[in-house]
Amino acid sequence: PVKRPAGGLIEIAQRHASVEILPGLKTEMMTYDGVFPGPTLETRRGETVTVRHTSSLTLPTATHLHGGHTPAESDGWPTDLLVPPSFNTYQVPQTGHDGHAPMADPLAQVSTGERDYRYPLDQPATTLWYHDHRMDFTAPQVWRGLAGFHIVRDAEEDALSLPRGEREIPLMIADRAFDEDGALRYPALDPELLGQPGVEDRYMAGVLGDVILVNGAPWPEAEVDAAQYRLRLLNGSNARRYELSLRTADGKPLAFTQIGSDGGLLARPVQHDAITMASGERFDVVVDFRSLAPGTTVELRNALGTGRTAQVMRFRIARRATDDVRVPERLADVPEPEKPDGAVVRRWHFRQAKVHGRKGWGINGKPFDPAVPQAQVPLGSTEIWEFFTDAHHPVHVHLSPFQVLRRGNRGPGPMDHGWKDTVDVRPYEAVRVRVRFEKYAGRFLIHCHNLEHEDMAMMAGFETV
Ligand code: C2O
Ligand code: CU
Ligand code: CU
Repeated sequence: PVKRPAGGLIEIAQRHASVEILPGLKTEMMTYDGVFPGPTLETRRGETVTVRHTSSLTLPTATHLHGGHTPAESDGWPTDLLVPPSFNTYQVPQTGHDGHAPMADPLAQVSTGERDYRYPLDQPATTLWYHDHRMDFTAPQVWRGLAGFHIVRDAEEDALSLPRGEREIPLMIADRAFDEDGALRYPALDPELLGQPGVEDRYMAGVLGDVILVNGAPWPEAEVDAAQYRLRLLNGSNARRYELSLRTADGKPLAFTQIGSDGGLLARPVQHDAITMASGERFDVVVDFRSLAPGTTVELRNALGTGRTAQVMRFRIARRATDDVRVPERLADVPEPEKPDGAVVRRWHFRQAKVHGRKGWGINGKPFDPAVPQAQVPLGSTEIWEFFTDAHHPVHVHLSPFQVLRRGNRGPGPMDHGWKDTVDVRPYEAVRVRVRFEKYAGRFLIHCHNLEHEDMAMMAGFETV
């Protein structure tokens, strides 16, 4: 389902629902509007939209618009909660789902029953997504269903000859695990076992599922025309990475023409045989099915998976078709990322940290503390941020998109084109990005988008002033 604003307003009801994901079985989920993924929101650049969330869930939520250039009070700060009316007072939980005790946030804004998020969306057309961001519980709540697309359109993009309508398809790729009766299976540490040797290591790498869902369906098959398609790829998985490629039934590879990244269109299209995608990243691609005969199929495969996780979905060419799409050589105005002389260089070291005495993840040696921002950034300034890790972490920055300048001692990698808000940082490879902070003052986040790592406190606040 697609929702567009009426009089500047979109309403979403957060509720528990049972959804058919596996054929013939019911899965109890936390949902936006009773569906998974949530409804796709479609809005236009510069037209402020208020998204009014009501909640009849039994748990608090915080909704974040990932990639949105959003004022702080609507950014879904992890302790700014929407609390269902069935809670008279919201009790701070004693532990996060991985067992660590949460930190208090004296500035938290809690609303009951209903909460308005205001999005000015003064940013180029692109694929955003909204998802839960509740402190310590983001991973299980997204896993249970709280995620959906939000597409921003604008006149510049409308003027290009790109596939549209039925030939423009957002694809949320996300793995999940299920019990035999269809219930979602999300592992949690048994508090009784905490402190025993080895137990804390159990989910240090994040939670993986053995079923690959695309838009909520396991390994689906889509009927397509022998035409060009625009696929808006999103890795909505908690922790899984994909290396995606397309293969025809007779084994021939089919290329992706990348036209956009997290933050909008690229300056010019880029060809890829494979797309590597970490949690939270989006790749906007055009694929060309024109040379394929009706009745044949094309498989979207994942080279990082094994067995069934190596398969993602299939396209079946249903009919011949005409197509007047021509991906232009110039897509958008994206400035070359030059290094501003004298810019502040800020280093963010993603590594293990003690979280209340136990093994967890932190930034610059500290677990997330909502009350203590790690940096103050003047609005209007351009900074160089350097991310360094000793394990593989997809690093995400709220508020402002960035351009990748370097990976280790090389330039940007093949997946780093255009405006990014999430960059997959490999172990011991310092990634430098250029980022300009504009417009909205307040508290924002930098964190690992492996959602288990986020919940294990690999997150920091920064304050724009
Ligand atoms: Cu998609 Cu702060 O998250
Ligand atoms: Cu975000
Ligand atoms: Cu991580």
